[in-house]
Order: sequence, then structure tokens, then C-alpha cells
Amino acid sequence: MSVRSLREVFKGDFDIGAAVNIWTVDSAAELIKAQYGSLTAENEMKPVNTQPAEGVFTFEKADKIADFAAGHGMKLRGHTLVWHNQTPDWFFEAPGGGPADRETLLRRMRDHIRAVAGRYRGRAYCWDVVNEAVADEGEQWLRPSKWHERVGPDYIVRAFEYAHEADPDALLFYNDYNECNPAKRDKIIRLVKWLKEQGAPIHGIGMQGHYNLESPSIAEVREAIERYAELGLIIHVTELDMSVYAWDDRRTDLKEPTAEMLERQAERYEQLFALYREYRDVIRSVTFWGAADDYTWLHNFPVRGRRNWPLLFDENHRPKEAFRRVVRTAGVEA
Ligand code: GLA
Repeated sequence: MSVRSLREVFKGDFDIGAAVNIWTVDSAAELIKAQYGSLTAENEMKPVNTQPAEGVFTFEKADKIADFAAGHGMKLRGHTLVWHNQTPDWFFEAPGGGPADRETLLRRMRDHIRAVAGRYRGRAYCWDVVNEAVADEGEQWLRPSKWHERVGPDYIVRAFEYAHEADPDALLFYNDYNECNPAKRDKIIRLVKWLKEQGAPIHGIGMQGHYNLESPSIAEVREAIERYAELGLIIHVTELDMSVYAWDDRRTDLKEPTAEMLERQAERYEQLFALYREYRDVIRSVTFWGAADDYTWLHNFPVRGRRNWPLLFDENHRPKEAFRRVVRTAGVEA
């Protein structure tokens, strides 16, 4: 039985992508080539991998993914230039010890962006420039981080300027999670408006899309898309997956997903894709955070010793019920 290709089914709507790493580009190569039209490096383009020590750039792993994408006619999303996580400590330390000052941090940021976005110029057509700068809880607007504390909020503006300088053709994104939570959504909107006032070259918002069977509600996702779209930027869904556990469910005993979980997951994915298609003028790309359920960052996270099944293809790369229902939203049978 031949299986429909997501990339083909949604061709008139948006790109369909997957996050890959140096192992899954081999282990899931056939599935990736058949189904996806865009790739994101799960970790290989992050600062911890591309510049482990000052001035020491390592691109072998990132190149492997960029070469795979180019070799198979796929797009490449760059991920990620400036983040508080997976960034080596040396970035923030003064040469003689102690915290580095604002000027040093900005120089390092610029050098890093120039090297990384410069290397993939013409290959990565867009970049997640700043990842997760907004605070999750409470009144606080921006997350406390070394970038924020030592440079000030304008570190975000500078990151976009440097990225534009390094690759003037790349589309530049602000990317975040819990992006449908109304309080956090409004902080993200405040950030994007402020960036535009500051003249930052920002083109899009990345809605990460790490969801589960209960949350966010489809109404919340719709509301978030509408509000983001009002900012006049494009939207990419950058890291979509759907855990079969609620956030506070700590069970570790399941060896496989229950029938109820798979049905609920299929229903939610169908609702999401129906919604994405309604907003296809603004949503230009939908990337899953993985290719199939045999490898997902959600195995062992946030609960150790637990498996998860968050994607459209099972552990043997066969389409799940969720796949069939997603395809159905485009008016074709799987
Ligand atoms: C965030 C980052 C991703 C990845 C996930 C977990 O969403 O943006 O790069 O690290 O966390 O896999």
C-alpha cells in the first residue's frame, strides 16, 4: 500500500518539515525523503555545537544535516542563534574570569551570528534568531538570563540586526513555547511590537507547538494565531508534537500508547491541521519536532524512564491514525 506524502498533500498550503539530528537523518532517511519538505537541526546548529570554545567553530554535524536537505531538495530552517540554553559558559565569562561586560557579549554575539548564519547563507532560508526570551510566569516580561542581565533587553534587537547583516535574504524569526497561553502570548506580542518599534528586522513568529492531549485548547490556538497574524508577520509552527500525557501525568508504566490516547491524539491533530489550513495565508511552514515515534526528545523527558508517542508515524515509521486524519483535512483520503 502506498502512503500519501504530507509534503505533497499540503503543497498548496504550507511546507511540512521535521526536526532531525545526525542519527535520525540516517535511521529515518527513507521516511524523511518521502514525507517532509523542510528540515530543522534539532541541536546541531545551536551555539553549544557550533562554537564550543571562543573562535573554535565546529560545523561537521550541522553540515551533515544541511547537506542532506540540499541533496534531497528540501528547505532548511536555521535553529537557533541566540538562546539562554545550550550556549557554552565562555560566552558570558570575561577573559580573566568573572562576568563578561555588555560590549564583550555583543561582540561575541555578532561574531557568532556572522559565522553561523554566514556559513549557511543561501542554504538556510530562515533563522530562529532569538529563542525563548519571554518569561513564563507572573508579571515579568522578559526571562532573566545572562544575555538579558548583562546586555539589557536590547540584546534581542541586536541579535536581529546582526542576523540581517550576516544574511540579508534570510527570514528572521522570534521563536517560543507556551505560545498559546494567553498571558505568555500577550508578552510575546508586546515583544514583537517593541522589536518593530526599535526597527529590528523581524519577519516572523515561531509558534513552537509542544502540545499534549489536553492543552492548549483549539480555541486558544486559534486566538493565538489570530493575534500573531495581526502583527503583520508570517507564522511558522516550528516544533510541533503532541505528548500523550498531560503535563502533570507522571505515569511510567506504559509500554505502548492506549487506544484512547491514539484516538484523542488523532482528533486533536485533525483539529489543528484544519485550523492551520484556515490560516494558510499567514502560516507558511509546519515543522514536527521529530520524524517518527522511535526517536523523540519526549522519551525520558520530563519524566525519566517513560516513553512517549507524540508524532504522526509510529516506531516502525508506519502512519498512525493521526496521520490519516491530518491528511483528511486537505480533502484527500490517506
Ligand atoms: C526548545 C528548543 C528546541 C529543543 C526543544 C526540546 O523547544 O527550541 O531546540 O531544545 O526545546 O527538544
